[in-house]
Amino acid sequence: MANLRFDCTKGAGKVCDNCINSWQDRVTDAHKTLTEGTGAGNDFLGWLRLPLNYDKEEFARIKEVTQEIRDNADIFVVIGIGGSYLGARAVIEMLKGPMYNMVPGKDKPQVIFLGCNISGSYLVDCLKMLEGKSVYVNVISKSGTTTEPAIAFRVIKDYMEKRYGMEECSRRIVVTTDAHRGALKTVADKCGYREFVVPDDIGGRFSVLTAVGLLPIAVAGADIDQLMAGAAHAMDLYKDPDLNNNDCYRYAVARNLLLNKGYGIEILTNYEPALHSFGEWWKQLYGESEGKDGKGIFPAAVDCTTDLHSMGQYIQDGRRVLFETVLNVESAKDDVVMEADEHNYDGMNFLAGMDLHYINSKATMGTVLAHNDGGNPILMVHIPALDEFTIGQMICFFELACGISGYLLGVNPFDQPGVEEYKKNMFALLGKPGYEDRKQELEARL
Ligand code: PA5
Repeated sequence: MANLRFDCTKGAGKVCDNCINSWQDRVTDAHKTLTEGTGAGNDFLGWLRLPLNYDKEEFARIKEVTQEIRDNADIFVVIGIGGSYLGARAVIEMLKGPMYNMVPGKDKPQVIFLGCNISGSYLVDCLKMLEGKSVYVNVISKSGTTTEPAIAFRVIKDYMEKRYGMEECSRRIVVTTDAHRGALKTVADKCGYREFVVPDDIGGRFSVLTAVGLLPIAVAGADIDQLMAGAAHAMDLYKDPDLNNNDCYRYAVARNLLLNKGYGIEILTNYEPALHSFGEWWKQLYGESEGKDGKGIFPAAVDCTTDLHSMGQYIQDGRRVLFETVLNVESAKDDVVMEADEHNYDGMNFLAGMDLHYINSKATMGTVLAHNDGGNPILMVHIPALDEFTIGQMICFFELACGISGYLLGVNPFDQPGVEEYKKNMFALLGKPGYEDRKQELEARL
């Protein structure tokens, strides 16, 4: 199987192999801190062991439940937010394409995501989609108390109970949550829903290879054995901290080098629509892991060539604080070959005989060189194919790099204290008991 390859040759003179290697001592320390569990956040390192050391009995149950859902459901509703849905959505779209739910002849069931916003219009549209369809639901929340999925689940639970009755709901609603506590755990126990566990020592944004991600991914028709095999392969590939042999750690160093040189914004750039949600997953992973204590690279993502017609101007020519990490997919699943046209009114006959993957690859490299000329350092991650094995590698590549990068930066990569602030304000403004003083203070400021 081919591996991911990291390439910093388009670093615009700001990052190079030698300057990466000069960080070896710091990386060796960060590697020890991470793998020996001696750093901040060390009670959330379960994801490091995951690709090999996972609950095999639960894994088998995921497959059983998957089979039942695939046999019986037209629509599978996944309720969750942040780390409780982004990984699954990213993997499903990478494997099945972003139009997975709409393409005739694709696997059933359709998979839709709810509870990742507080929009009534979005919820109403989703409810309309369920009419006349066989529906299964997976509600996912580690804490079991997050507002957005809790709201969506209230509505969907009510819909399901009215439509199917309590007994049938206990078959059709599956819960993924903490093994022992939380409101969702209580509901699941009371209503007899089937339950999967989010392990205590794995934070939301590192949980895609637990039941959190695996059940929705498997229901969408993916081979989760291959996904885990790719992840295990990556953990083996990146176990040696020697920067001469570790592309994952090279990436972690390169981004910190660039930050130190004033490049405080990293854009994850893709040229395949199937990678859009991977960019969303990556943004959460790096944003929540590194953005704290007044530190961190701001993670942004663009979809190319689409966004070259919107963000392209700024990237080429705006403030020079950006660097890009380009995800370069080296093979296409499906393709279209351009035909010559007798009239050639659009002047596109020079493309005749070329397939879109080839054209896209030239657009990619043309853009990389143009952005280099504009002064943007570019890191590249070459991805041999969008299959389960490679995607398993990608997940571990970016998770491990994130852990190392966070320690290099000097933060705890495994907490997210800042996320609580908006919640406290929202609860206060909505009149939740216990937030009276904050409500008064906030209302005076509005
Ligand atoms: O990474 C994290 O821990 C968070 O982003 C969570 O994934 C997100 O807030 C959802 O939390 P929960 O699964 O508890 O509903």
